[in-house]
Amino acid sequence: MTGESKKIKIISIFGTRPEAIKMAPVIRELKSCPDVDSRVVVTAQHREMLDQVLAAFNIKPDYDLEIMRPGQDLFDVTVAVLKGLKGILEVERPDLVLVQGDTTTTFTGALAAFYCQIPVGHIEAGLRTYQKYAPFPEEMNRVLTTRIADIHFPPTDRSRDALLKEGIDSDIIFVTGNPVIDALYQALEQPFHLDPEISRAFRDNKRVILLTTHRRENLGAPLQDVYMALREVLLAHPDVAVVFPVHKNPAVRSEVTSVLQGVERVYLTEPLDYLPFINVMKRAYLVLTDSGGIQEEAPALGKPVLVLREVTERPEAAAFGTARLIGTDRCKVEDEVNRLLDDEGAYLEMANAANPYGDGRAASRIIQAIYCYFGLREAPADFSPAEKSIVP
Ligand code: UD1
Ligand code: UDP
Repeated sequence: MTGESKKIKIISIFGTRPEAIKMAPVIRELKSCPDVDSRVVVTAQHREMLDQVLAAFNIKPDYDLEIMRPGQDLFDVTVAVLKGLKGILEVERPDLVLVQGDTTTTFTGALAAFYCQIPVGHIEAGLRTYQKYAPFPEEMNRVLTTRIADIHFPPTDRSRDALLKEGIDSDIIFVTGNPVIDALYQALEQPFHLDPEISRAFRDNKRVILLTTHRRENLGAPLQDVYMALREVLLAHPDVAVVFPVHKNPAVRSEVTSVLQGVERVYLTEPLDYLPFINVMKRAYLVLTDSGGIQEEAPALGKPVLVLREVTERPEAAAFGTARLIGTDRCKVEDEVNRLLDDEGAYLEMANAANPYGDGRAASRIIQAIYCYFGLREAPADFSPAEKSIVP
């Protein structure tokens, strides 16, 4: 602890849209702790997609590294984050750095703190596919962040067990649930504005499929296959539409336009702001995605989710029955989507509202665990999912 006031100084570092969404409830809770001095550093690995989350949760960063450049690669991002954080961490000397998830900002944030010998807390720790290149580079970012971290906040028992197997001491592991569910609880209460074009998709069609894609390992043929499969699905189902907010990554955009631009009942949009996005998800019939965070949110909203990946570090929702891992093979995607559209029994079985990822109190467990780490409070009770738990 530093300073005359003996406050615990905590710096939260993040840079992309999903990190911001999952950090927001934690930052809100930290701000309300009288004995915590909370600072926020954004790397801005993402720019527009980050800024809309900062606005939605009213977060005003203390530092903004502004590192996003068009077309930069993993080396560029890594170097820019490390260099940017050096001066800040050397001057601020926090008692703890918090990072979240598996992006390049996550890993390099942890590495920068390590170079300054500052303890690191890792939110959403212990997710694993055990495949070095899937997802790439996220799997290795997580493993390396675990090696550096001093406190680990796995969301579920499974992620806790992965950490234990890697030799992490149980005293510094706290099963908290995922703050993505806290964010969802908070955000669903807020007013939102829906673009008229998207409203039209819901008005003019009976069932809407929400689609998002951005994984690096899916670029090229896998994404083309998924989009072709959806064209076939739409031809066979005149009552169905696809709403597709397209990720800002130009590599994703070029894949999308070549197959889906101008296709009837495909509503391509810019990335939606978080509040409209979750409300679209709430109204959608089913979700098709290769996203990590959306795999967690959809089950919490009782929406069947088909996961466009060969492996996932989030198998809990499949075990609970609300998600299916279907990969990107064209015939397989078409069959799986058709099954949910045509077989009501199969659909209802998946839409069974089981949510393994949180109860809306992850942030408060994380804060209590931090106090525990500094010897100021008892450890929080571990999160454990209810049999049926849908966000109201
Ligand atoms: C990154 C993360 C990924 C995470 C995803 C969430 C890494 C290596 N990848 O992937 O783990 O799942 O974010 O969305 O950390 N861009 C913009 N505006 C934005 C955001 C991105 O123009 O607001 C463009 C930029 O040209 C940028 C490119 O998208 O260079 C790719 O962004 P980058 O952060 O490198 O990778 P993502 O695919 O977004
Ligand atoms: N999201 C959003 N607008 C969109 C698509 C996604 O606000 O158009 C949110 C979504 O609710 C989730 C997060 O962004 O919380 C997921 O981000 P993304 O899929 O980019 O990254 P990942 O979770 O795969 O790392």
